[in-house]
Amino acid sequence: MGLEGLLALFGLGARKEPPAPPKGARPADPRPGSSERQPTKEEKAAEKVRLKVRAQRTKNRVDIWKRFEPLHNSISGTMSSFYKAREKMTDKIVGLKVLDPKKCAPIEGRYKGLGKPPEGEIGEQILGPNIVKTLDWGVSTEGGGFVVEEFIEGALLHALISKREAFSPAQRLDLVRQAAGALECVHRAGFVHRDVCPRNFILAPDGRLVLFDFGLTVPDKPVFLQPGNRIGTPNYMAPEVVRRRQADKRIDIFSLGVTAYEICTLTLPWPRGASGRAALAHDTLAPDDIREHWPEIPPALAGAIMAAIAADPDKRPPSCSDFLSRFAKVTLD
Ligand SMILES: Nc1ncnc2c1ncn2[C@@H]1O[C@H](COP(=O)(O)OP(=O)(O)O)[C@@H](O)[C@H]1O
Ligand SMILES: [Mg+2]
Repeated sequence: MGLEGLLALFGLGARKEPPAPPKGARPADPRPGSSERQPTKEEKAAEKVRLKVRAQRTKNRVDIWKRFEPLHNSISGTMSSFYKAREKMTDKIVGLKVLDPKKCAPIEGRYKGLGKPPEGEIGEQILGPNIVKTLDWGVSTEGGGFVVEEFIEGALLHALISKREAFSPAQRLDLVRQAAGALECVHRAGFVHRDVCPRNFILAPDGRLVLFDFGLTVPDKPVFLQPGNRIGTPNYMAPEVVRRRQADKRIDIFSLGVTAYEICTLTLPWPRGASGRAALAHDTLAPDDIREHWPEIPPALAGAIMAAIAADPDKRPPSCSDFLSRFAKVTLD
């Protein structure tokens, strides 16, 4: 989560914990964007193993500075410090994300008693060519969580967009497809990312676009997406999050749409804002038509992106594969 995310969290007065469901309440109705269903026997067994591993890893604290040598000063995130590091035993270069327990507490506290998996355990379950590989995770002797990831050399998508050097039309199409492919993996694994934005994608030198940062990711279940969890990065935040309505994975489709719009045009569909207030325009002001910024955009691509940023979740593509299928035939050189 970036600074903007925190502004959204505190600046707009989000509740600390979701309201408890009334006693005896039936689970919320499955919604078009939700994958609420009974787990299979295999899924139940896998969950049992995960719980066991979680308990072990929480108990067996790791002295991370005995195991890793930092190769540069940390990059400070909002709730964590990130290091390129060398694992002393193996000489392997990794990315080490060290969470600040004090800063994470208000967010994790919202899900008390709901069995939310820690960030590292979530990352381990999300696999794909455009997803950062989670290698290990645990709790350090200092008491905070840590995640070991593959270290991705490259530039943040956010930094490339900020430079305002346009991508070629073919590269725009490729990056939008890769971003959607990444998000599809998150949803297929049963999670909602909740912070899809160019700050959480790295473009590797080989052209691979990689999604990372599962710090706000939750299981795709209504209880984790209840009204009140106003969290994310405001310029990319779906109206149902801003307005504190029940959310589902379509909040990610909205953020993907804004990210895709920015990849294609280097600008946002709504006026940019550093605070949560910017997001209030997402259902009160019509977005600029993407064709105003890129008149030659293939109509199918324009249609998919404009649909993804619809204020009404029912008008968005219901899934990443649906989003991708809308411009599957488009080619650009
Ligand atoms: N696997 C990685 N490879 C290279 N750099 C990374 C990696 N993961 C994170 N970073 C860097 O660390 C920063 C913070 O990481 P992130 O996971 O986004 O933390 P936060 O939850 O605080 O936003 C990123 O903006 C990026 O510059
Ligand atoms: Mg981040």
